[in-house]
Formats: sequence, structure tokens, C-alpha cells
Amino acid sequence: MKNISVIGAGTMGNGIAHVFAQHQHQVTLIDVSAAALEKALATISNNLDRMVKKETIQPADKERTLANIHTVTSIEEGVKNADLVVEAATENVGLKLKIFQEIDGFAPAKAILATNTSSISITQIAAVTKRASQVIGMHFMNPVPVMKLVEVIRGFDTSDDTTRIIMELSQSLGKIPVEVNDYPGFVANRILMPMINEAIYTLYEGVAGVTEIDTVMKLGMAHPMGPLQLADFIGLDVCLSILRVLQAGFGQPKYAPCPLLVNMVTAGKLGAKSGEGFYQYSTGSKELIPAPKFAR
Ligand code: CAA
Repeated sequence: MKNISVIGAGTMGNGIAHVFAQHQHQVTLIDVSAAALEKALATISNNLDRMVKKETIQPADKERTLANIHTVTSIEEGVKNADLVVEAATENVGLKLKIFQEIDGFAPAKAILATNTSSISITQIAAVTKRASQVIGMHFMNPVPVMKLVEVIRGFDTSDDTTRIIMELSQSLGKIPVEVNDYPGFVANRILMPMINEAIYTLYEGVAGVTEIDTVMKLGMAHPMGPLQLADFIGLDVCLSILRVLQAGFGQPKYAPCPLLVNMVTAGKLGAKSGEGFYQYSTGSKELIPAPKFAR
């Protein structure tokens, strides 16, 4: 597992590239947009600086990590020497199926194909390839360089060998892998998203305000972020799309997204990335101020 190709230079893709490169893998980061690749390298560099400052790595580790990352805009070029491909493109079924067909055509026959999807079926993705036994879910958590978990998801035909290799590889990255089966939301989001949805319902029904709900969960349950802050951090559009996968996959009303969440996404309030969600995010400030609609 020397050569790792990562597809998608967004938040998850750059974090995954960072972690593999930091652990001495040769990483090829692939994105259709050259500007996105440039931005990803700058983000990785900033995140490495943050780790140097916190003394979790040495300055020389930063240079070594950056030297292990190469960028390309073509999938064919980027996966041709891969031992492992980790796809971290936008969470869109059609796009992922198209990317997997392409990777399957260009990656070496022995390569393992992993997806960082947070909720799309691994079995469905594997079915468009000619190597379903070598397709697996490798679900990292955000922020990838910090969070310990990798949820390793076995599709219907994923082999024992593929699973063992990915479990061991995840451990070698300093992560703790947990093996789960391929059902909607897997484990992480099947449990996390109903909690976030319930927090939004609690706000919608006027039981308590944004700060109160998050404070209860932070101080009462020792969560590092309250559920509404976490929803903003993940992206409200992402939360909504995962809830829809749960609702469609299980057909149960308990997964129906709260109408407030639907309205916020429709209005373009997507959380930290759009500058406003349950909180507003002003540049340079880390203070959490409830968005005007929720200010009490
Ligand atoms: N590399 C990249 N990002 C880093 C980082 C690193 N080494 N260290 C911290 N971060 C990020 C945060 O995004 C945030 O960004 P900005 O500074 O740019 O605003 C910043 O770090 C906050 O860092 P701090 O140093 O102020 O805070 P911290 O280090 O004490 O803790 C935290 C930050 C680890 C994110 C903590 O708040 C936490 O654990 N929160 C919960 C995270 C969580 O639950 N993640 C899972 C989300 S669900 C998911 O990812 C799966 C899915 O499918 C939806």
C-alpha cells in the first residue's frame, strides 16, 4: 500500500491526503479543478502548521508530508499506479457511480477501491465495477487529521482480505478502525443524524434556544460540540441529504428531516461554510453567536 490516490480535494479529501502523506505514503490528490487542488495544498500546509504549533509533529515532518503529495486533474493519470484509491468526491450517487466506473477502468487490477461516502450504499457502488470484492467503505471523520475513527464498511461482496488490509492500514495511520455492515447510514450517521434532527426539532418546537440545547449536550453529555454547532460544522445540506438516505432506506417516519432543517437548506443557510446556520460565523471570531433568526 505505497501509492494512494485520493479523489476529491475538498475538506475530506485534503484531510485524507494529509493523513496518508504524513504516514509516508506517496499520495496523488486528484480533482477536476486545478484551483481546488491549489487550495487543498494550502489548507494541508496550514493544518500542518497548526500541528507544529501544538507540538504534535516536528517542522521537518511538515516538509516531508508536503513532499509526499502530488496533484493531477485527470483520473486516468492519477490512479494508474495506485495500490489504493480513496474516493472523497461530492456526496452524489450519480457522480460516485460514474467515478467508480472510471477508476475501475484505469486502476491496476489488484488495487483496492475505497469510498469515503457518509451514507451511500457500498454495495451499489461496488456493483458498477468488475471487482466488487475489492470495493469497501473507508469513512473518515471531520477533521480527518484529528479524529481517531475510521468506519470500515463491508459491502455485500467485500472480501475478508480487502477488509483485513483496510483495517490494518487504518491502524498504521494512527486511527482506530471499526468494521460495520452496509446498511443506510452505516453506524455513525444512523445514530448521529437522528440526534441532530431531534435537536433541530427541539429548537423548532420552542423547547429551548440554540445556546441552551448545545449547552445541555456539551456540559451534560461531555460532547465537544453541541448538536446544532456540530450540524453547522458538518454542513446542513449534508445532514439533510443523509437523513433523506435514512428515510428512503428504512421507510420510517422517525428519520423524516425536521421542516426547519429543510427550510434552512432551501434558504442557503448551510452552516459554517456559508457563514450562517444555527450560528453566524464572522471572519476571525470563534465566538458562537446564534444567527439572527434564533437570537433570544
Ligand atoms: N487539521 C484540520 N483541522 C483541524 C485540526 C487539524 N489538525 N485541528 C483542529 N481542526 C479544526 C476545526 O475545523 C476548526 O477550524 P478553524 O480553526 O479553521 O476554525 C479548528 O480546528 C478548531 O480547532 P481548535 O484548535 O480551536 O479546537 P480543538 O482542536 O480543541 O477541537 C475539534 C476541534 C476536534 C473539531 C472538536 O471540537 C471536536 O471533536 N468536535 C466534534 C467533531 C466531530 O464530531 N466530528 C465528526 C463529525 S461527523 C463526520 O465527520 C462524519 C459524517 O459523515 C457527517
